Amino acid sequence: MITGSTGVIALIGDPVEKSLSPAIHNSAFNSLRLNYVYVAFRVPREALPKAVEAVKTLGLVGLNVTIPHKVSIVDLLDTLEKSASTVGAVNTVKNEGGKLIGYNTDGRGAVEVLEERVGSLAGKNVLLLGAGGAARAIAFALAERGACLTIANRTVGRAKELSVGLERKLGVKPKVTGIKPWMLAGVLKGADILINATAVGMYPRTKETLVTSKMMHPNLTVFDIVYQPPYTRLLREAREAGAKTITGLEMLVRQAALSFEIWTGKQAPLEVMRQTAWRLARRWRF
Ligand SMILES: NC(=O)c1ccc[n+]([C@@H]2O[C@H](COP(=O)([O-])OP(=O)(O)OC[C@H]3O[C@@H](n4cnc5c(N)ncnc54)[C@H](OP(=O)(O)O)[C@@H]3O)[C@@H](O)[C@H]2O)c1
Repeated sequence: MITGSTGVIALIGDPVEKSLSPAIHNSAFNSLRLNYVYVAFRVPREALPKAVEAVKTLGLVGLNVTIPHKVSIVDLLDTLEKSASTVGAVNTVKNEGGKLIGYNTDGRGAVEVLEERVGSLAGKNVLLLGAGGAARAIAFALAERGACLTIANRTVGRAKELSVGLERKLGVKPKVTGIKPWMLAGVLKGADILINATAVGMYPRTKETLVTSKMMHPNLTVFDIVYQPPYTRLLREAREAGAKTITGLEMLVRQAALSFEIWTGKQAPLEVMRQTAWRLARRWRF
C-alpha cells in the first residue's frame, strides 16, 4: 500500500511510455514487501535540469535515467561513482540526504550475464558492435575483466575515440574496424563472443542485422543487447550457425537488479524481475 512514507523512485527519459522498468521494479518491491514505488516521467531534453532539481525538492529515493539524458545528467549530479565516471554516462541515481550520486549499471549488467553463460571473460576475443552509450559502458566493463576487444562501428571515428578513451583510462587499446560484412567476417573467425550494442534489429527495423549465419561459427556466443524483440534477427542467424545466444532482456533485468540494490541496499529478487520482464515481453507483437 502506498503511504505517506513510501519511497519514490522515478524513470526519466523521452519516451518512457513503453518501458518495462516500472513493472520490473514494482514487482520486485512487492515481492519483498518493500515500501517503495517506481514511476515513469517523460522528461524532454530541455527540462532535465528542473527534473534533477525536483529529485532533491521532492525527496525522491533515486532515478533511472534513459535516452536522451544519460550523458547530459552527468554535469547536474553531485558525484559520480567509478562505474559512471569512467564511462561518462549515468543510468542510475541515488539521493543520499540531498546529495545525488550517479552510477552506471549497464556495463556490469551485461558482463554478469555473459559471465554466467561463458565463465571468465579474461583473454576471450570479443567483437563489440557499436560505440554509443551502451557500447561504451560494456566496453569498459569488458576491458576491466581482461577481455581482448575489437570495436566495430558504422562511424569508425567514434569507435576510435572509445578505443583511445579505454587506453587512457585502463591502459588497454582495442582494435577498431568498420561494419562492412567482410570486415566483420574476418574478425569473427577468431572471436569467442559477438555483442551487438547497436540499435540495428530493434523495432521497427526488425529485419536488419549486421551479421548473418554464414559469418558465424558454432563456438561463438552471440549476445544481442537489443530486446525489442527479445529474439532479434541476429539471434536467429546465430542459432542457425549453431552458436549460443543471449537476449538483451537478460541484460535489462540484470542492470535493473543492480539499480535496485543501489537504492534499497537489499539483494534483488532476480527471478521475480525476470519473470515480470518476460511476461510483458511475450505480449509484444512485432
Ligand atoms: N538490454 C539492455 O538493458 C539495454 C541497455 C541499453 C541499451 N540497449 C539497447 O542498445 C541499443 C543501443 O543503445 P544506445 O543507448 O547505445 O544508443 P546510442 O548511444 O544512440 O548508439 C547507437 C549505436 O547504434 C549504431 N547504429 C544505429 N543505427 C545503425 C545502423 N543503421 N547501422 C549501423 N549502426 C547503427 C550507432 O552507430 P553510429 O555511431 O555510427 O551512429 C551507435 O553505435 C538500443 O537498441 C537500446 O535499446 C539495451
